[in-house]
Amino acid sequence: MGIEHRTWQGWEKFFADRSTRALPALRQDLDYSALPKSLARSLAIFQLGESGGGTIVAQSFCNSLHGLNQHYGTAMAYFVEEEHRHANILAMCVRLLGGNLIGNNWTARLFVFARRLIGLRLKVLVLLAAEVVGICYYHLLAVHLPQSRLREQLLEIVEDERSHLYFHCDFLRVQTPTAWRKRLFVWIWRLVMVSASVVVLLDHRRAISDLGIGKRQVLARWKSYSQLAERLVLRNSVRDIPQSLQCDSSFGRCD
Ligand SMILES: [Fe+2]
Ligand SMILES: [Fe+2]
Repeated sequence: MGIEHRTWQGWEKFFADRSTRALPALRQDLDYSALPKSLARSLAIFQLGESGGGTIVAQSFCNSLHGLNQHYGTAMAYFVEEEHRHANILAMCVRLLGGNLIGNNWTARLFVFARRLIGLRLKVLVLLAAEVVGICYYHLLAVHLPQSRLREQLLEIVEDERSHLYFHCDFLRVQTPTAWRKRLFVWIWRLVMVSASVVVLLDHRRAISDLGIGKRQVLARWKSYSQLAERLVLRNSVRDIPQSLQCDSSFGRCD
């Protein structure tokens, strides 16, 4: 299936099929101590961000929003489980790098605060911003690492995050049927994305610099994926999406 709309039942099945994956076994296949310490800290921050999400499941089951049903709630529960799987994998990666997990961080707190601001719609919009940031950041980290299990795991997480982007875009598309709602979405979305880009660049600047990743490269990828998400929500046709952002056989790539 490409990037066309899925039913909530379709998303439920999609996530259910992936939910049986076992956690990978990570081993010392590389001298990980030679990698910058800032990488472990950066991944620990993302690990914390991947750990939450309990209230959104309850809210997905019990709400009066247009176009949702029980299948959406179940799909959301699988989605949160998948994020927790990412948290477990990232925890293994942090330990492999000799780093420590963290229990608190200002960007993670900011993310949770933003998610709790209003209802399900804003929560999903904030989650979508996190997917855009995650897709681009994990990918950039991975391609700047030597061939290793750590790199493979980050790339696998990127593939999951890409599908999450389409899941959230399907929800937001259903929730923005009118012109004024679309305009409102665009304003809030751009504001959230710019804010997210600034705080993540600031908080992860050491790892970005230590791995030799250009800030412009990070921003350009965020901008591309942010535009892709915006177009998907606004129900523009696939033909309107620039060639560089169009899908491969599974989900959209921006390599
Ligand atoms: Fe994730
Ligand atoms: Fe995700």
